[in-house]
Amino acid sequence: MTTAETTFPLSFTHHPSSAARAEAEREIILADPGFGKHFTDHMVQIDWDIETGWHDARVTPYGPLMLDPAASVLHYAQEIFEGLKAYRHADGSIYTFRPEKNAERLQRSARRLALPELGVDDFVESIKQLIAADGQWVPDAPETSLYLRPFMIANESFLGVRSAQKVGYYVIASPAGAYFTGGVKPVSIWLSTEYSRAGKGGTGAAKCGGNYASSLLPQAEAYENGCAQVLFLDSEEGKYVDELGGMNVFFVYKDGTLVTPALTGSILEGITRDSIIQLAKDRGHTVEERRFSLEEWKRDSEAGEIVEVFACGTAAVVTPIAQLKTPDFTIGDAEAPAGELTMAIRQELTDIQYGRLPDRHGWLTRLDA
Ligand code: PLP
Ligand code: COI
Repeated sequence: MTTAETTFPLSFTHHPSSAARAEAEREIILADPGFGKHFTDHMVQIDWDIETGWHDARVTPYGPLMLDPAASVLHYAQEIFEGLKAYRHADGSIYTFRPEKNAERLQRSARRLALPELGVDDFVESIKQLIAADGQWVPDAPETSLYLRPFMIANESFLGVRSAQKVGYYVIASPAGAYFTGGVKPVSIWLSTEYSRAGKGGTGAAKCGGNYASSLLPQAEAYENGCAQVLFLDSEEGKYVDELGGMNVFFVYKDGTLVTPALTGSILEGITRDSIIQLAKDRGHTVEERRFSLEEWKRDSEAGEIVEVFACGTAAVVTPIAQLKTPDFTIGDAEAPAGELTMAIRQELTDIQYGRLPDRHGWLTRLDA
């Protein structure tokens, strides 16, 4: 679908909240934000319809959306989203990490879900505008951030099954500590043997709500088995590692080679994944993006060839995986300590994000100036 008319770049109007939290209340929230529990005082909204294209970009008080019960998102799940973070640097300035990658991925997701594409510059501007209103919500404690959640929904009131002619784009923000309770410590993950995440030609490479809805049952199975995340295999042969419910995965070999599943169309093209491939290559590691079977994982772990496994994503950053549990066998040891390279890469990535190391790849975008 093409984007109709509109003036680019979009200009935003601001409608300040009369119920913004007082500083003392905000500080209490920022002292222990958790993940995804609290939301800032404002949000971004941009409307789209087939006649006018994107219009009426605005920053409004955070609050409920008015949706007609026939809004197509409620029936056919025509919805996509993104996740990125705003980081407070030591001098108080606020940056985000590779936002144009999130913008481009939102465009790819939009194409797959037959939604209109939002311009990369307008996406980045929408984040800046929200920070202009809610910058005080970016926490400054170590390893905390403001998680930004842009999303797009079909909100035409029409029950026919076709792409909607009325759409809304929004950005909300939520102060964030560690994604996993317990902070950065190795997690166990659960192999879903019954359910797949994405099939050939499906929506696996899109960041759409439906992918997550279908992961909730296997994710619940993971929790029941004492695991923090669920691992999916490819749906065709049930042999090859795809990704976790909300994260990509890497394997570290004894000789320093890293292996990560190739982008075959069924996994999300993680921006953290892409950045880690670059950082590992910078350190002189070989990185293989290829099909990687569960069998290989088991065999090479038992032989002591695989020495570290980790998950990565915006929310999880880099999280060591100690163990894979399956109904039939386990790989690794739940008590295993975090891998050395895992933690070194995590450190380097976060040092860049928080401005503690030079931004040698030009990955940072300042949001508050
Ligand atoms: N895979 C899935 C299914 C995800 O939800 C995410 C999180 O966004 C990722 C991978 C990692 O992507 P990124 O590093 O861009 O956050
Ligand atoms: C992210 O990392 O941004 C995600 O969307 C994953 C989700 C598990 C929170």
